[in-house]
Amino acid sequence: MIFGRFIRKLSRQAQDKLGESNTIVEETLQGIANVKAFVNEAYEANRYNKILRNVVDIAVKGAKFRGIFASFIVFFLFGTFVGVIWYGSVLVHNHELDFGELTKFIFYSIFAGAAMGSFPDLYANLQKAVGASERVLEILAEKGEDISMIENNNQVDQPIKGDLTFDNVVFAYPSRPELTILKGISFDAAAGQKVAIVGPSGSGKSTMASLILQFYHPQNGSILFDGRTADEYSITDIRNQVAIVPQDVLLFGGSILENIAYGRLNASKEDIIQAAKRANAHQFITSFPEGYETIVGERGVKLSGGQRQRIAIARALLKNPSILILDEATSSLDSESERLVQEALEELMKDRTSIIIAHRLSTIREADKIIVLEKGEIIESGNHAELIGNEQGLYRYLSQLQFETQAG
Ligand SMILES: Nc1ncnc2c1ncn2[C@@H]1O[C@H](COP(=O)(O)OP(=O)(O)OP(=O)(O)O)[C@@H](O)[C@H]1O
Ligand SMILES: [Mg+2]
Repeated sequence: MIFGRFIRKLSRQAQDKLGESNTIVEETLQGIANVKAFVNEAYEANRYNKILRNVVDIAVKGAKFRGIFASFIVFFLFGTFVGVIWYGSVLVHNHELDFGELTKFIFYSIFAGAAMGSFPDLYANLQKAVGASERVLEILAEKGEDISMIENNNQVDQPIKGDLTFDNVVFAYPSRPELTILKGISFDAAAGQKVAIVGPSGSGKSTMASLILQFYHPQNGSILFDGRTADEYSITDIRNQVAIVPQDVLLFGGSILENIAYGRLNASKEDIIQAAKRANAHQFITSFPEGYETIVGERGVKLSGGQRQRIAIARALLKNPSILILDEATSSLDSESERLVQEALEELMKDRTSIIIAHRLSTIREADKIIVLEKGEIIESGNHAELIGNEQGLYRYLSQLQFETQAG
């Protein structure tokens, strides 16, 4: 039993190390441009080599112990036979047992002994398999979200008008529970309003977006839609009525048409083209020889940052959500693409609640409310005129900084 437990631990370790080594290969190949740009091929090869060594070392260690254990079992097994034969011979010699009976006994004990002797090895093998599959079992035991994989998952049962409230929301990521990211955030956005969130990098803006989308749940406080807490709605109802244009847009391998249709799978081609037009994307799409059938993503044409954003905007337009989250890209676009994206966003924000996470303050002058976030706390809020009037305020300071860099 003790040996079995030991083998199980080793087996799990070997599996983990093997996983790590696979991650290195995966990351290196995915980021091959970075590896090459920094001339780090040797470093990566070394890293992989080292971790593979580790895997082999653990495997060899396991094999060694199993060898020792097997010899131990065999030694005792045959030791017992020798003992039986010796004692039997003594009995035969003293005429307390005849030779036939001794032979019979020896055969029986060989069969029984050999069978028993194979148990420890079987047990060790079993434990090895358990060790290797423990992680998989852990994942299988993980409780999933309450989303049934049915076709009409995109149907909305409880419509949301668009009022959004954060009520004293406290949040820490489950992977880092000791680090509180949001420390009691409260604000309201009435249906149709534009609320902007600004603040330094790492202050928790994208985290708020994840909370609205129910990717995580606050430890304290609540998020309300139309005055009712999020758990009164099904997750699919919320997500079907909230759209996000994320900070970094991911396009799936497939045509541009399919990528826009991701916003509403049953949309007609006319709807998709209409959405692309409103997102200022139609022009660049039709300039490609294959137009909407152009394959993008990993294996296809790489689109520029501004183009990807406009695809994401078209996707969100097609979804036609009540609440829209814009997580503005940090990388700045040239003025022309910026104008095109900005126009597309204006179109997208019409008639719905918009939460705009902004890096360029020039884009949020018109917002109904601006919330200034710092280290997970709201330190200022109000409209542009109010905030700019606050001599000591962070907003005024940030605006001035941006104005200076633009002017200079
Ligand atoms: N999945 C995660 N697990 C653990 N911590 C995270 C996770 N995502 C973000 N964080 C941490 O939460 C904090 C806030 O991150 P967040 O992405 O919300 O910042 P942000 O305000 O959007 O910044 P930026 O302006 O650079 O986009 C950071 O300290 C970050 O390290
Ligand atoms: Mg962010």
